[in-house]
Order: sequence, then C-alpha cells, then structure tokens
Amino acid sequence: MKILYAASEVAPFAKTGGLADVGAGLPKELAKLGHEVWVIMPRHRSVDDTGIVLEKPSGRVSVHVDSIPVEGQIYETVFPGTEDTSTPARMIFVDNPAYFDRAGVYGESGMDYTDNLERFVFFCRAALQWLKKSDWIPDIIHANDWHSALIPTYLHAETSDIFDNTRTVYTIHNLAYQGLFTKSRYSVLGLPWDLFHLDALEFYDRINLSKGGIIFSNAVTTVSKKHSQEIQTVEFGCGLDGLLKSIGHRLHGILNGCDTDVWNPSTDPHIAQQFDSESFLEGKAENKKALLKEMKLDALDPDVPLFGVVSRLEALKGMDILADTAEKLVDKRAQLVILGTGDSNLEDALQDSAKNLPQNIAVRFVYSEELAHRIFAGSDFFLMPSRFEPCGLSQMYALRYGSIPIVHAVGGLADTVVDITEPNGNGFQFSEPTDTAFLKTCERAFALYAEPRKHRDIIRQAMSFDATWARAAKTYTKLYGNLLG
Ligand code: ADP
Ligand code: GLC
Repeated sequence: MKILYAASEVAPFAKTGGLADVGAGLPKELAKLGHEVWVIMPRHRSVDDTGIVLEKPSGRVSVHVDSIPVEGQIYETVFPGTEDTSTPARMIFVDNPAYFDRAGVYGESGMDYTDNLERFVFFCRAALQWLKKSDWIPDIIHANDWHSALIPTYLHAETSDIFDNTRTVYTIHNLAYQGLFTKSRYSVLGLPWDLFHLDALEFYDRINLSKGGIIFSNAVTTVSKKHSQEIQTVEFGCGLDGLLKSIGHRLHGILNGCDTDVWNPSTDPHIAQQFDSESFLEGKAENKKALLKEMKLDALDPDVPLFGVVSRLEALKGMDILADTAEKLVDKRAQLVILGTGDSNLEDALQDSAKNLPQNIAVRFVYSEELAHRIFAGSDFFLMPSRFEPCGLSQMYALRYGSIPIVHAVGGLADTVVDITEPNGNGFQFSEPTDTAFLKTCERAFALYAEPRKHRDIIRQAMSFDATWARAAKTYTKLYGNLLG
C-alpha cells in the first residue's frame, strides 16, 4: 500500500507531546511491514536543531492562502529507523521560513501564533500539491489532529478525479484541541461557503478544523479503545460527542504503541546504569541515586519512595491535583521529582512546594528528553492523575522502566495500567480525579514500597508491558485494507 502520514510533529524533528512519538513509531512499523510510506510535516526550526543536513530542495510548491499565492520548498530525507528496510520510508519537510522557522511549534510563551490558520492551511495544501507534482497518489492518507485535518477536507472539495481511489483516515489524539478560528477568517481556507454549516466546518459559528477531519474522512480513529467510547459522551466529547456518536460505525480505538528502540532501559544511553528485568534491582537503585543527586535531593538520609512526573503542566493532566497535594504526599517521608512545562500558575504553585520542602521536592520547568528518561529509570512510582487522557505514552514508558504508575482510570491509562489488586497488576488506578482519591491511592504505593518482595514482583510485571508499534501498525493496516475494499 502507498501511505501518506501527515502530522505537524514527528520525533525527533519536533515534539510537544505524544503526537510526535506516534509520528515516529507508527510510520516506521508500517514501512517494516513493506508498505510504501511517505511522512510529511512542516520544517519547524527544531528540525534543523536535530543536526540533520537538508541539502537541496526536491522541488517547490505554490499554493493559495487567503487567495494569495504562497511559495514553499520541499526537502526530503530517509525516515529514521527505516534505512535498512526493503522499503525505506520518506521523510518530507514542507519549508516556508516565514511560517515555520520559529521558536515554537504552535506558539510561544503560552500564546498561540495568531496566524496558525494560515500556517496549517499552507501545510495541508502544500502536502496535497506535492503528491500531485510527484505523481505519487497514495492509497491511504492518514491525517492527525487539527493541524492536518484540512487534508481530508480539501480532498472532499477537490474537483479533479486524481484522488478518487485514495481513502482517508483521521486520528484524534487530543479532542481538547480542535483548531477553532473565528468565522471572519474563513476566506483563508479557500473553501466554498457551503462547507460552513453544521454538517461540515461550522461549530457554534466558528471554524472547527477537526470537524472537517471527522466528517470528511473514511475512517476516524482515536488512540485507545476506552477513549473511543469516552468521546461519544458529553463528559469527554468536548462538544463533538453528538457528531462522534453519529459516526460510531466508522470510529475505532487503536491503542498507541511504545517505541522500544527509544524507550528501552537495557540500551538507553541517557541513564546512569542500563538494566533489564533480571538486573533491575541494582539498576534502578543506581539510577535513583544518580537522579537524586542530579536533582539535589540527595541530602535526605533514609531510603524513601521517589515519585516521578513528566508532563505538560495543565489541569487536563491533573497537574492541579498534584500542585494541591504535593506537600501532603511527600510529608517528609517521600520524594518527588517533577519535569514539565505549561501553565505558569501551576509552575508557581509547584515551585512554592519545592521551596517549602527542598529536601523532598525538586522541579524542572524545561523540556528535556534526557531528563525524562532518567526520571522513568530512577523513580519508584510515576504519577499521572490526568482528568482526560486519550492514550498516554508516559505511563507506558514508566512501566517499561519499572516505575509503577499511579493513574486516574481514564482513556488509555485505564487500558494499560492494571491495578495491583487484579491478576497481572502493574500499577494503581483511582476512579475519581480528586485530591482525596489521589492521596489515598498514593498511600497504597507506600504500603507496596514497604513490602520489598511484592514490590519486586510488581516491577517485574510492569517491565513485561508490551504494547508494540508492530501490533498497532498491523491493526491500522487492517483498517486501511478494509477501506480500500
Ligand atoms: P501528551 O501527548 O498529552 O502530552 P503523552 O503521555 O502521550 O501525553 O506524551 C507525552 C510525551 O511528552 C512523552 O514522551 C513524555 O515523556 C514527553 N514529555 C512531556 N513533557 C516533557 C518535558 N518537560 N520534557 C521531556 N519530555 C516531556
Ligand atoms: C495526545 C494525548 C495523549 C496521547 C498522544 C498520542 O497528546 O493527550 O494521551 O498519548 O496524543 O496519541
């Protein structure tokens, strides 16, 4: 099959969250299965920060944004990790410095770029034009979240028959972000006004790009089974529950995978000591020691449990629950390491807690891939009290590194973390996103920590967690095949 995978972020070229990890993991496995895969993303500034050398452009595109022709260049390289496969995938960058050579991917200092609509209209139109110019018409176009949701919408509006045999899949990674823009900017899209209605792009008198992806794609997926049911309810549907319920027959939940080339404690170059399910006792102890030293938490004498957090700092991630309870949680008998960026009020609150208990709590408000690896490797428990979590990848990484996850049982967290009271338990679940329920569940973690033999068994169980991209890629391939008939 010929598959175009379009996303605004693909690790390591650009990453603000799990979307980028999916963009790295899934296409690689699709290529390994023998499919002809092209992956397309904007050339954000961070692409060049990876040290990649993009020498000569392979061509140009010129597309209309608000009726004005805008030029771009296309650069290509081999998709990382597919070099040795019989069908190496292509990594394609859409270059337009005015739009994409910026410090952020969607915005800076907590503010979205005001021209995000223009930027992603350009990206989606450029992607389609490049396919036509290359005379490479995919069987499947797989778009992801609102940034590429216009691709299926433009295909719907396409007047030529060039894409008649192409089928589209739209994956919802995070319905909380839908690409909403004021109606007065509709001309930027270059689409007829008859697509601005309830059954197309209109949403409470605004433009909603995700709606286009959902309505005009042949199949819609989200990133866990449980979340595919949740988004059909008022509580989790973010205003689109009615629509999602009505398309239930073409809505699928496919759990993300875990890229074991990157997230593997036995080969991880970023951690103090590599370990596997045989050697974790010593390995985790060494990593904990190194992490405590790095975070300046090594003055505390007794051996106490270490809780880790790697997260965007926002209420959807339950980070307000963490901020409210951090000091009570450690209560001088535990330690807490937090890595995250986001809401400045949450940063301030967590910073205050770290000031109040400097031997117990350390915070880093930066984005650091390396430190994230060290937190997974060195912590005993991993906290994810998310209110909303379509899949969640961090809990999967924590499991593989033997850091026992403590999670609110929503979305992918409920589908991957099994409470230790159940057979094959690998973590802790709580069902209400409240301070009390969270703290009560952490008490259960203290109890487990006090029982070394049981704790070891649970670590072993956690490390055996196995949700591979190979499995997910097979499920996607089956779905693509069904669409092609
Ligand atoms: P989401 O995509 O909603 O943020 P996921 O759990 O799917 O949640 O993915 C988050 C990804 O981003 C994980 O790979 C996690 O390790 C990473 N991450 C989040 N914040 C940071 C940070 N400050 N530094 C490094 N990695 C981070
Ligand atoms: C989104 C979701 C997260 C998911 C990720 C990758 O950012 O918030 O739960 O794991 O996308 O699909």
